Amino acid sequence: MKNLLVTGGAGFIGANFVHYWIENYPQDTVIVLDALTYAGNLKSLNSVKDCPNFQFYQGDICDTDLVETLLREHRIDTLVHFAAESHVDRSISGPDVFIQTNIIGTHSLLKAAKKVWLEEGVNREIHRFHHVSTDEVYGTLEAEEPAFSEATPYAPNSPYSASKAASDHLVRAYHHTYGLKVTTSNCSNNYGPYHFPEKLIPLLITNILQDKPLPIYGDGQQIRDWLYVEDHARGIDLVIRKGELGECYNIGGINEWTNINIVKMICELMNREFEAQPILANRYPQATSVIAGKAQDLIIFVDDRAAHDRRYAIDPRKSNSQLGYQPQESFETGIRKTLLWYLENEDWWSSVMDGSYRQWIEQQYSTAE
Ligand code: NAD
Ligand code: TYD
Repeated sequence: MKNLLVTGGAGFIGANFVHYWIENYPQDTVIVLDALTYAGNLKSLNSVKDCPNFQFYQGDICDTDLVETLLREHRIDTLVHFAAESHVDRSISGPDVFIQTNIIGTHSLLKAAKKVWLEEGVNREIHRFHHVSTDEVYGTLEAEEPAFSEATPYAPNSPYSASKAASDHLVRAYHHTYGLKVTTSNCSNNYGPYHFPEKLIPLLITNILQDKPLPIYGDGQQIRDWLYVEDHARGIDLVIRKGELGECYNIGGINEWTNINIVKMICELMNREFEAQPILANRYPQATSVIAGKAQDLIIFVDDRAAHDRRYAIDPRKSNSQLGYQPQESFETGIRKTLLWYLENEDWWSSVMDGSYRQWIEQQYSTAE
């Protein structure tokens, strides 16, 4: 039996991880610490909030005293660290909070873990600090280059990826310097339920439902490697249970797509879904393009993102061979599940898009042609 502290558990991947963990390990205690920034939403934890072994704390990972208290009082043995500022575009327009949360915040957690686990001796022998990172720390790939392996040198290009790279290095340093028992996973782009609609896939789905433009940055030929979010949770579970201390594991499903092809595919799937389920036209009367079978008419090309990474791709051979990791969801089934989830959960996505989000997104697209 484990006592988990999950930071950022009200965000996209954190909430899916909490669902996954409680379903698979109902005897474990799961404590969530989340500041509930614009990206965190308690509604994403509705289905677990009444579970007897689940507790939520609203708080900041930079509050080292609070983290120490949680580690001590709940006798935490496993800390799974998701909390972060995670959107590249926001890191370009306002990098400070990325430095604060992703670097100072991660360091605050490491200091608290060192104090309680190593100095006070609570769970000294059995603790684990698992750090959730991204493939973006490796920089960008040309079309013909091999995918990122764990040995690829770090070369982050955005304030977001640079702040994640810095946090990865701090986690590594706390292992080597102080003996903290750490593991890190670097995952490719995730998609699935509870994904905040500023990121590409949920933005496309929710914009089609509101008959809003589908903005493609630059030429749309950038490539991302997509993984269903539950498969990420499954990978983290394996790293926690079987990963070697001090090691990093890449998690991915060998699923590279150009952005323009993702956009076209989602338009096509939405057109088909509206044709197959005429009731959707009543539920989303404003979605006139997709009702007419022409979601693709909403596509617009906008200015490219600054320093836009051309291609990400994960080489997952280490986690495949050493941990037995294999994703379970195909892209076809995962995307369909995701799309149906957004069609059924308008309440969730319309409520998370509050005034500040709308204002921010309108500023971003003011340059749209
Ligand atoms: P998200 O933006 O959806 O959620 C982040 C969560 O962290 C939110 O609930 C937010 O309230 C919380 N948070 C932010 N600042 C905090 C603070 N100071 N104290 C406490 N909580 C705070 O992010 P996500 O997409 O779920 O990503 C989770 C983690 O996975 C991040 O570390 C990210 O770098 C990493 N990651 C994401 C992807 C992806 O495709 N989204 C891929 C690989 C790795
Ligand atoms: P995003 O979901 O922001 O993830 P990341 O930048 O971390 O990979 O973006 C995925 C890709 O989609 C990225 O190449 C940027 C592009 N993109 C668009 O073309 N239009 C959009 O409106 C958004 C949000 C992203």
